[in-house]
Amino acid sequence: MCRPLAMTGTSLVVSGTSPTMTAGIVIARRVAGSSLRTRGNTVAVTTGNPPTIKEGKEGSALSNYAKPDYWTVKALKEGYPARSVYKLREIAEKYALFSRGTSAPLRVLDLGAAPGSWSLYLLRAFKGRIDLAACDLSPLSAAYGKDLFAGGNFTFIQGDFTGDPARAAILAKAPFDVMVSDAAPATTGNRLVDTARSEELASTALRYAETALREGGSLVVKLFQGGATAEFLKEAKPLFAKCHTFKPKACRPESFETYFIGLKRQPAG
Ligand SMILES: C[S@@+](CC[C@H](N)C(=O)[O-])C[C@H]1O[C@@H](n2cnc3c(N)ncnc32)[C@H](O)[C@@H]1O
Repeated sequence: MCRPLAMTGTSLVVSGTSPTMTAGIVIARRVAGSSLRTRGNTVAVTTGNPPTIKEGKEGSALSNYAKPDYWTVKALKEGYPARSVYKLREIAEKYALFSRGTSAPLRVLDLGAAPGSWSLYLLRAFKGRIDLAACDLSPLSAAYGKDLFAGGNFTFIQGDFTGDPARAAILAKAPFDVMVSDAAPATTGNRLVDTARSEELASTALRYAETALREGGSLVVKLFQGGATAEFLKEAKPLFAKCHTFKPKACRPESFETYFIGLKRQPAG
């Protein structure tokens, strides 16, 4: 597992491996009491489930795969901890995800953010023009983006975004112009189980969009094809003026993953 980012100032760090309810409650109180009032890179940490991305060697994008492919090598060269960065980049460019008329900083939420490539891409691409909140069970990779992750425009919430403590911390950063979710469960190899867990994450991301995405805003959510994809789309479509599903080039060909893209959040009600 990666080590947590170096924390500064009054940031709260609670580490552990057992995702017990007791720990969640204790941490929720601490978040409400102190961490969310800190300036800069506020870090609220809950105990974690096993991370999906396991780094054999600290911060190495190579370590998750026996055989590095084009995208993995490119990510390493360009200073990203995961090849998934190119999925977001392609989606962002294809659907003009972050183009907006106003000069105010974009408020963005990144769900399932570790080891941190998507967040890093956003912080680099929109330097000084973004206010980014990110959430994951696992810490971000300590080997990348230290300066950017320590900036006052970045908040990392370590915890389970389907649970109340992380939800409260996330909603405190709302509303958002763009929400992206690359969240994926730790895979078991059982496609039914993995798809069901992934559906829960996707539908939680959709709930966040319902409550915390600004009118006109956009949503990107990783889906695993099959299972309840059709139901997800049925629920998601009324929320947006335009909807797409798209599999970026950087997805492994054998992977069942695809991405839902909802553009122009419609007025609530
Ligand atoms: C494919 S990785 C994301 C990669 C990331 N987009 C990047 O570019 O570095 C999926 C992430 O989803 C996270 N995840 C899965 N379930 C979660 C949950 N309930 N709450 C928070 N994060 C979760 C995992 O810990 C894992 O880090």
